[in-house]
This record gives sequence, C-alpha cells and structure tokens, in this order.
Amino acid sequence: MSKVCIVFDRIRAEEKMLEKEALNLGYDTLMLDAKITQVNTDTKKQDLDLGDVVLERCVSYYRGLHFTSCLEFLDIPVINKFQVANVCGNKMFMTLLLKKHNVPTPKTYFSFTSESATENLEKTGYPLVIKPVIGSWGRGVMAIRDKDTMDAVCEIRDITDSPHDRIYYLQELVNRPPRDIRVITVGDQPVAAMYRKSSGGFKTNVALGAEPELCPLTKEIEDLAVKASQAMGGGILGIDMMEDEKNGLIVHEVNNTVEFKGLSRVAEKNIPKEMVEYAINYIRK
Ligand SMILES: Nc1ncnc2c1ncn2[C@@H]1O[C@H](COP(=O)(O)OP(=O)(O)O)[C@@H](O)[C@H]1O
Ligand SMILES: [Mg+2]
Repeated sequence: MSKVCIVFDRIRAEEKMLEKEALNLGYDTLMLDAKITQVNTDTKKQDLDLGDVVLERCVSYYRGLHFTSCLEFLDIPVINKFQVANVCGNKMFMTLLLKKHNVPTPKTYFSFTSESATENLEKTGYPLVIKPVIGSWGRGVMAIRDKDTMDAVCEIRDITDSPHDRIYYLQELVNRPPRDIRVITVGDQPVAAMYRKSSGGFKTNVALGAEPELCPLTKEIEDLAVKASQAMGGGILGIDMMEDEKNGLIVHEVNNTVEFKGLSRVAEKNIPKEMVEYAINYIRK
C-alpha cells in the first residue's frame, strides 16, 4: 500500500482536503511539517518517514522550493518537481519558457536597473504593468500609468535594493473583461476552471476579494492549459489566463502550489481526489 505525504508549513483548507481524500482512497497518509524537519548531507531516505510520494504544499515559496531540493536529493518523488517549482516561482523564467514554447502570453519587457527600465518605458509608452518576479496574491503588481508612478516605484526599489528589486518585469496592460480565468491542471489534464471577477481595480486575485465563478472548460481553454502545463514540465499547476480583446486567450501566469478551496466548492470533479490519484499513479508508472 502506497503512502502519501503532504508537506506543509501551514495547514490550510487545501491541505486538509488532500489529507481527507488520501484517507478516503485508502492510502496511508502523512502530514509533514517542513518547519520542524531536519535534513543533512548524510540523511538517507529511510532515516525519515516521507512516504512514497510527496505533495509539496508549503505556503512559503522559498521554503517549499528548498525542501523540494532535499526531497529530490533523497530520491523521494515530489510533486511538483524542483525544476517546475523553480520556473513557476519566478515570473521572468516562467514568461520566457511560455514564450519559448509558443504559448500566447502578454508582451513583457525585462530590464536590470531602474534607469534602464525607465528608459525603456519612455519608448514603449504608458501604461505597463510592473510585477515583482517573485510573489503572489497580486502583491506588488501595479499599473504604471505615468512617469511619476514609475519614478516612485524606482525610488522605493533603489532604497530597499534587494536582489529582486533590480529585476524589472514590465508587461503590456491587457485589455480584457474585468475577470481572468484560473485553470487547475493535474498531470497536464485540466480538471476545473473558474472566472475570477474583479472586485474593483484591475487585479483579479481571489486573495484581493475577486469573486470566483465556475467557468466551463471549453476546448480552447483546455488546449491552452495543456500547452502551458507541458511547457512548465507538468505536475499540479494553476494556469491563469486573460481574454485579450486583441489576441484572444493568453496565459499570464502559471502557479506552482495552487489553491483550490473556492473552486472545489463548485467544480464537478473532486479536485483534491484528482491530485492524490495523480500522485499515486506518478509512482506506479
Ligand atoms: N498584463 C496584464 N494586464 C492586465 N491585467 C493583468 C496583467 N497582468 C496581471 N494582471 C492582473 O493582475 C493580477 C495579478 O497578476 P499576476 O501576474 O497573476 O500576479 P500574482 O502572482 O501576484 O497573482 C492578475 O490576476 C490579473 O487580474
Ligand atoms: Mg496570479
């Protein structure tokens, strides 16, 4: 009998649902707190009880990523793979990989100093959307509509001057209805989708109060989600799309540790069950 391990740093509704489904399916199930787990260079797989397959669910991106590297060192199958988590956690790496795989994505500009970013913006014109390369829940994502705003952003970044402050990721502001589409994929298969309707402002993150509403999985949405998932290297992903008035559906983000509490209430498929079954099939292959 296979044992499923759910690695967490905070237990949210999602982690509870995964545990419940794994137990319902009859698997030995283990909840492991990354915050109190020790690994060293001599650690062997059998020294720790990590089950046969791990679903890595840390809220902290860096904690999850580094924990994943330990799991792969110990030859424990982990979802998502280090490589996938690494790319999805950084918007610049993700955007470049999407584009490389011909997945439609907004035009994005990269600069490596505030001066260079400002100079580029003078050429492209306003507005553009600036995003921290690492971050989620819409934090730090801002529409830059004039030079004053850009100067203020640059000033703050030059003062804090953390390594990521020097990476400027600026993207065309896409004309679209006040909503986006989140698709959850499990092993390159779309399992459910929702619209996220803005509660005011241009950002549509549920964390910012956007209203989730079930979105039918059309062939177009499915095909695009599959393509985006394959481009990232598969696993369990949240693919975010916008309905661009000019270019149709485009992917603006792929999320590594996807939240699904809201969507699971309205989805036809049992999302956490799909995830656990995928993890089990992953080690059976
Ligand atoms: N280029 C864009 N044009 C218009 N709206 C955007 C654009 N990029 C992001 N948004 C809006 O901002 C939200 C947050 O951006 P996103 O790239 O998904 O960052 P985060 O990782 O913080 O969720 C998106 O859900 C979307 O509603
Ligand atoms: Mg997002």
